[in-house]
Amino acid sequence: MCSSDLDGMDADALFAKVGEIAAANPGNRCTKYLTREIFDSFDDTAKAVLFRCAKTGIDNADSGLGCYAMQPNDYSTFGKFFDPLIRDYHGAAADAKHITDWDASGVGEGGVLDVTKLGLDELSMRVRVGRNLKKYNLPGMMDKAERIDFEKTMLGAFKALIDNPDYGGAIYSLTPEFADGEANPNLISTEKYDELVKAHVLFKDMDADPFLKSAGIASDWPYGRGCWQSTDGQCIIWFGEEDQLRIMCMKKGTLLNEVFDRLNAMLKVVEAIEGIEFAISDDYGYVTSCPSNLGTGMRASVHVKIPNLTKDGTDTRAKEIAGPLGLSVRGTGGEHTPIGADGTVDISPQSRLFIKECEIIEKLYNGVKLLMEAEQAEGGGAAPAAAPAAAGGPYDGMDADALFKKVGEIAAANPGNRCTKYLTREIFDSFDDTAKGVLFRCAKTGIDNQDSGLGCYAMQPND
Ligand code: ADP
Ligand code: ARG
Repeated sequence: MCSSDLDGMDADALFAKVGEIAAANPGNRCTKYLTREIFDSFDDTAKAVLFRCAKTGIDNADSGLGCYAMQPNDYSTFGKFFDPLIRDYHGAAADAKHITDWDASGVGEGGVLDVTKLGLDELSMRVRVGRNLKKYNLPGMMDKAERIDFEKTMLGAFKALIDNPDYGGAIYSLTPEFADGEANPNLISTEKYDELVKAHVLFKDMDADPFLKSAGIASDWPYGRGCWQSTDGQCIIWFGEEDQLRIMCMKKGTLLNEVFDRLNAMLKVVEAIEGIEFAISDDYGYVTSCPSNLGTGMRASVHVKIPNLTKDGTDTRAKEIAGPLGLSVRGTGGEHTPIGADGTVDISPQSRLFIKECEIIEKLYNGVKLLMEAEQAEGGGAAPAAAPAAAGGPYDGMDADALFKKVGEIAAANPGNRCTKYLTREIFDSFDDTAKGVLFRCAKTGIDNQDSGLGCYAMQPND
């Protein structure tokens, strides 16, 4: 193979570099899992593609994943590299298989996830999925002609949506011109682009993202980039970002299930359009450029204000609390952007793979509930769901015997609930009545929320 395929290095130099990066950056999964043995097991053509998949992790030593697939089949072609990396990142067993399930009728109260029940007013809610068409290269390997061809394929699909009274809408394209100088009727001005980014409708300049840039995903910017948006503004399909398509539903409201169900309905319409066949893997569900998005491709998010947890102007404390709850914290402009000046952040469940779609939206709701309790506690106020426990009980109407019967049952059915695992009667009885009341308040969240991972919050700095 020629050295230009490996950024001017031969394989020895490449693996010397991979070894150095891995030693200095244990969190870089690309250099952890890319071995010389795996690399040498492929022919020269495949080696060149594998290098392109891994290049972003070599160029960006601080990557957490450090790789993107270049073609829909790469996750199986290069399974020796990708599979252990994917299972490591997603914390999955070697035999876990992905299951798609959008039936959210069993979540919340009869399928309703109402944030006013958490003491919150209207929130900005968004659910998106990443999708790619089977017949094209993934964005990292597309050239300019393929990006334009892909956009033209999507124009047919967008026409079907625009003609559908449930959607309507318009196309906003950044492509300066199509092939052979053909004019682009959907081209928008720079001002319109800036306005759409500010309104969270269109994505930021990808050239500014070093991870996407070295993967080739940002190449040929802004050709083949843009979006379709429905007349009511709530349904949006990005084309040409990290995935060929990001399909989403977004609105201000109080019922999370509404954006979730509307996205599901829209996906059914899109999938029924001729020429639209999404890339799917038997093992990993929907194929996405980044291994972090595989499976559901879903990120369900809300913008919430947590001024107490962000009072130092950063997201450090919020991440300390949100991480163990399985939630990511992003800035108000999306990934790699700062939090809002008023303490508004973007909260979403981290899981995408080996989880059902309906579980993601439920996880967002339950996670926001716990996060808001932590926000209240951080401000010195009582957690809203924590009824003050009187000294000596009762503990939410239970005496200590009833309480520990319940703790035992929850622990047996939920081995992941650390609160009920570690809260023993012996420990509890070692305190006086006042301290018992506080300890109960610390543990109440894990008793009320059996699916807790930690299941407790301190109530006072010395707890
Ligand atoms: P993605 O969600 O596709 O992974 P980003 O995190 O970069 O990508 O977010 C893309 C855009 O969507 C950004 O403008 C971001 O502010 C916006 N966004 C995400 N969640 C919400 C939300 N709940 N309400 C409003 N805008 C949102
Ligand atoms: N490539 C970057 C890394 O490995 C970001 C991965 C997650 N973000 C994403 N947009 N896919 O750290």
